[in-house]
Amino acid sequence: MRRSEINRHIRDFETILRVHRFELPPFLSLTPAEWQEKGHEYDEIRDNALGWDITDFGSGCFETRGLYLITLRNGNVHDSRYSKTYAEKIMMLRDGQMCPSHFHWHKMEDIINRGGGNLLFRLWNADKDEKPDRVSPVKIHSDGREYEVPCGSDVILKPGQSLTLYPFCFHEFTPQPGTGYVLIGEVSMCNDDNTDNCFEEAQGRFPPIEEDEPAYRLLCNEYPEAQ
Ligand SMILES: [Fe+2]
Repeated sequence: MRRSEINRHIRDFETILRVHRFELPPFLSLTPAEWQEKGHEYDEIRDNALGWDITDFGSGCFETRGLYLITLRNGNVHDSRYSKTYAEKIMMLRDGQMCPSHFHWHKMEDIINRGGGNLLFRLWNADKDEKPDRVSPVKIHSDGREYEVPCGSDVILKPGQSLTLYPFCFHEFTPQPGTGYVLIGEVSMCNDDNTDNCFEEAQGRFPPIEEDEPAYRLLCNEYPEAQ
């Protein structure tokens, strides 16, 4: 992705969050120059990759395979200094964008429609080869209600509604066509995005960046060493 695109997407995301009165913690407003001077008091952010995460999953087409994401809090499954067992994210998808089909080996997560349009989910159970089972029905856990649907069928979340996703359940999600953008919350177990995403098709979770202008904000994997 080009840096200029990433800068634009971060500004757009900030604007929509402001419209929804979703306030962000101060570290998300630090400039790259300010990060150069930060010391070990911010280790939790660096070590747990909190912050901005704009990805096109390596597709080269953010408009169709892209996700706006901020990790607001997370522990660290590899580092016992960080004992937080939970994580929170805020995401956005625009009409036409899709978070591609994947499951998690360990993480259990609630995905919440936080506002905007409707969010459309499709789910499949993972089979023993870790591929989507295209036959068996899937169990839906949604805001205290449990029911079954045929695998791959549309499950619509209106603003305020949520789904609980257990490990080994493939899920993809996209705004319902014509519905506009959707703000999406995630409340989950502590997790590592580098090692706990099994995508149905190979994806580049953190794609390379072409530097065509200065960064407006650093992404969660770009923080410099503590000073
Ligand atoms: Fe997921």
